[in-house]
Amino acid sequence: MNPVIETILTRRAVRKYEKQPVPRELLEQIVDCGRYAPSAMGLQTWHFTVVTDRKVLDRISEANAKLVASDPNVPATLKEEAASGRFDSFRGAPCAVLMSGEPGRKFADVDCANAVENMALAAESLGLNTCYIASFVPCLLGEQGAQLRRELGIPEGYTPNLALAIGYGADAPTPAPRREGCVNWVE
Ligand SMILES: Cc1cc2nc3c(=O)[nH]c(=O)nc-3n(C[C@H](O)[C@H](O)[C@H](O)COP(=O)(O)O)c2cc1C
Repeated sequence: MNPVIETILTRRAVRKYEKQPVPRELLEQIVDCGRYAPSAMGLQTWHFTVVTDRKVLDRISEANAKLVASDPNVPATLKEEAASGRFDSFRGAPCAVLMSGEPGRKFADVDCANAVENMALAAESLGLNTCYIASFVPCLLGEQGAQLRRELGIPEGYTPNLALAIGYGADAPTPAPRREGCVNWVE
């Protein structure tokens, strides 16, 4: 099969990782593939923050666990996970690329999402696994997130929106069930 198509069809979200770090040169290639994603009007309204320090990812997860614990609207199972100390926004991956969108740009979320998917496919093609992550965002928003955003080097005014957790998966992911439907043709 064409290797690009094979990568697209076999990629799965992975939520359990080995501790083994991802070599820097692979991360650089992955981020470069993110930079070459399509963006609305070619404006590239994104910023990439590559976090390889697991302690930093833990701090973000802990801050989110606190928010979950105090939110009356989250399901009980999530609350239990937050209270257990096992809550990990990044699913145990040794590193993650956090995306932030440029202020005032209508398509910043879309541009960042395109970059995440490009990076996910690049990582897969390099023998890595990934998980697209949005749930890391709440603790980084608004005034409460200002200090963490500064520490992460996110440019002033940019809004964190998506991340890609990257690592060597602990188990081989199960193939996706065949996906069909939701397409109509106009011929
Ligand atoms: C916008 C977006 C946000 C997501 N956020 C999370 C997340 O916070 N945590 C998580 O474990 N998975 C997250 N996922 C992964 C999805 O749950 C996963 O892609 C979906 O279940 C389909 O599985 P597949 O990627 O293996 O095809 C997210 C995916 C997308 C596209």
